[in-house]
Amino acid sequence: MTEQSGEHVAVNRDHWDDNAHEWVASGERNWAREAPVWGIWGIDNGEVPLLPDDLTGLDVVELGCGTVYGSAWMARRGARRVVGIDNSAGQLATATRLAQQHGIELELIHGDAEAVPLPDGSVDFALSEYGAAIWCDPYRWVPEAFRLLRPGGRLVFLGTHPLAHVTAPMDGSVPIDTTLHRGWFDLHRLDWTDAVDEPGGIEFCLPTAGWMALFRDVGFVVEDYREPRCPATGDEVTFAITPTWANRWPSEQAWWVRRP
Ligand SMILES: C[S@@+](CC[C@H](N)C(=O)[O-])C[C@H]1O[C@@H](n2cnc3c(N)ncnc32)[C@H](O)[C@@H]1O
Repeated sequence: MTEQSGEHVAVNRDHWDDNAHEWVASGERNWAREAPVWGIWGIDNGEVPLLPDDLTGLDVVELGCGTVYGSAWMARRGARRVVGIDNSAGQLATATRLAQQHGIELELIHGDAEAVPLPDGSVDFALSEYGAAIWCDPYRWVPEAFRLLRPGGRLVFLGTHPLAHVTAPMDGSVPIDTTLHRGWFDLHRLDWTDAVDEPGGIEFCLPTAGWMALFRDVGFVVEDYREPRCPATGDEVTFAITPTWANRWPSEQAWWVRRP
């Protein structure tokens, strides 16, 4: 099921270090917001409630934290110990600067969310918004999240919907369209390093039943699953997808799972 350990982690580290400068402005914008918004369509937390209103006293981790605004929102909701792990030193440089600027205390780890240097059962809540959720191999990072959580703890994540991968042209041209370019059942590793438009890194996704099977095998109980809908229509391409497409079909998926 999995590739040789680490290949995608190294490729993605280079990709994100090369591109970290492009994520500074969006990081600054989200740090300045009191109320969380999520994903490429900026849907608010009321509609996609990745974060509960109250995290008072909980130990939390953000897996693939980027500029770490998700952790800032968790700290502002009362989380006690807030840890963000990211594979890119460039992203963490922005994260460190913004945390200092906003006076929020976070622990940042430069590392791989598939092998987090924290003890078993050390967190109550784990979040990933387009971090480990899409850049890590689910067969590695989901069991790792389970290991980190205490009994009763939750993992919530948002990322690309498998349908958006299946309808992505094989040569990586954008936008995604309405043709089924690749099979559904074998969806797993997606290498965009040679994409003709916007070459990227190596991403991962599973078909919906594959995620369900993985959660079951790992021991997670699924509490909720949503397919956020882009509220607008239009032809402006955002991360390879147009609003019109994402208003008709699901471009994103969100999962809430609990360690019993
Ligand atoms: C789109 S950002 C998501 C974070 C945040 N929500 C944001 O939008 O800034 C993706 C992040 O995942 C990180 N990432 C990729 N592979 C990773 C890995 N194996 N372990 C930890 N972080 C990883 C990248 O370095 C990048 O900062």
